[in-house]
Amino acid sequence: MKIKLNGKGIEVDGSKSLLDICRENGITIPTLCYHASLFPEARCRVCLVEMDGKLVTACSTKPREGAAIVTNSERIVKARKLNMELMMPEPSCGLVDDLEVCEIYAEVGMRKARFPKIKEYKPDLGAAVVRDDNKCINCGRCVRVCADVQGVFAIDFASRAHNEHITPYWEHPLADVACIRCGQCILNCPVGAISECSHLEGVVDALNDRNKYVVAQVAPSIRAALGELFGMPAGTLVTGKTVAALRRCGFEKVFDVDLGADMTIMEEASELLRRVEKGGKLPMITTCCPGWILMMEFFYHDLLKNMSTCKSPHEMLGMLIKTYYAKKAGIDPKKIVVVSIMPCTAKKFESTRPEMKSGVDYVLTTKELGKLIKMKDIDFASLPDEEFDPALGISTGAGVIFGATGGVIEAALRTAHKFATGKELENIEFSEIRGMKGIKEGSITLKGKKIKFACAHGGANARKLIAQKDKYHFIEIMACPGGCIGGGGQPVYRDPGILRKRTEAIYSADRSSKLRRSHENPIVKKIYEEMLGKPLSKKAEELLHTHYMKRSRF
Ligand code: SF4
Ligand code: SF4
Ligand code: FES
Repeated sequence: MKIKLNGKGIEVDGSKSLLDICRENGITIPTLCYHASLFPEARCRVCLVEMDGKLVTACSTKPREGAAIVTNSERIVKARKLNMELMMPEPSCGLVDDLEVCEIYAEVGMRKARFPKIKEYKPDLGAAVVRDDNKCINCGRCVRVCADVQGVFAIDFASRAHNEHITPYWEHPLADVACIRCGQCILNCPVGAISECSHLEGVVDALNDRNKYVVAQVAPSIRAALGELFGMPAGTLVTGKTVAALRRCGFEKVFDVDLGADMTIMEEASELLRRVEKGGKLPMITTCCPGWILMMEFFYHDLLKNMSTCKSPHEMLGMLIKTYYAKKAGIDPKKIVVVSIMPCTAKKFESTRPEMKSGVDYVLTTKELGKLIKMKDIDFASLPDEEFDPALGISTGAGVIFGATGGVIEAALRTAHKFATGKELENIEFSEIRGMKGIKEGSITLKGKKIKFACAHGGANARKLIAQKDKYHFIEIMACPGGCIGGGGQPVYRDPGILRKRTEAIYSADRSSKLRRSHENPIVKKIYEEMLGKPLSKKAEELLHTHYMKRSRF
């Protein structure tokens, strides 16, 4: 269709929003409640433009044939600024890093508060996710991501007019409602009103304590995202620099959670084959993701027996650090402080579960690690690439792909095939379960039986997959969009293309690994030889497995 954009006649795709059309034509429109991954609810009215003389929201309005669109009149500039002032009594730029709203202040020309704050709220200090309603501007992005993308519905709007605010249901604290602690609301909040419950202070105290032996373990997806916090392009692999930075922060040893992932695969592949051979409960469902585990515990009690009993990779490695490594290195395990560097807010909750008998003392998100590196004045970009400490630092490509949706199943099948047939799989890349499609599936023959597998990422997709679970033998679910590369503790992103770049980085790390199957890992072999015996042995069950429970949604 033909329209006029700021007086210039152009041909446009009429199915696109005015916002997309303007951006494609190089015109900047400020947005606040809009997010490319969410349905445009048009609450903030910061993106106003004129269509045929009327003010309309660009994010939710499509053009009419022959319409005259204006994006820069004085009336528009005044209206955008007023809407911003009505929402934002107190600009909080400078208090929190990299707030999206700070860019928008500049775009609408707002410098200071014009209207007083109407109400004070008590901050909600949840178990993993912290909310401060005093900063909230009711843009509704957290509500939409929690409902539409995650399918959890833990928070919603309450009250009306100037009393309107966002709250967990029935005004309970977030920690007391069916919130899966995925942290997707954090990634979507433009003003920093939701954040992770910080473990930084505890970690800094431990690092300063001469009686402690502080060890870091780094999750697969950190290496594909941490560089973004230091101005590097999305998808830059910073594995070696991350290790170097952690050493300069004062950690005694830096270990690789990819090794924990290799251990998980040894146990999980064996568990799958045992269930297939002995008629155990199928489909077996992965348990690497504590966000998904909470979702199952709140909403799917009938799946308890379908869940693998394997702990997640950092929980397995945390336990091995305090048992296997402590013994070998001759260190009292009570002196060891294990800090997991994770993309994940739900892992903060996971390590406090009593039934986990966790070896992990603190969980820092990618963003918290970024803050620690900045606090220590380390020039991250100039650091040399360093290797993980070899005692628990050798891993395989199978371990690193845990960071992307589909990676756990792919890694498990590489090893399950060897265990079931005695032969290595020739093609170890399962393209059918790679990529950003919400639900992916495939099949493989093991022990003469066709094994159908599927994976989902994002809670809403998980719900759709669970509705058809009986078609499959093996299911992977990761609560966050894209898997851990899109975790709630990762750097904030506005362009969903960033998740693709992080995913590509993960797969390139796999391709360049010398070892690509978990059972080839020499440290894994040593741990079984020297301590555990074999997968699913009594000792392995005691240290590396756990159980889950039913939780009330109310
Ligand atoms: S942490 Fe996840 S489940 Fe909880 S409120 Fe935020 S988006 Fe919803
Ligand atoms: S997908 Fe990864 S980051 Fe997200 S909740 Fe699960 S484990 Fe945590
Ligand atoms: S960004 Fe369009 S109404 Fe908020």
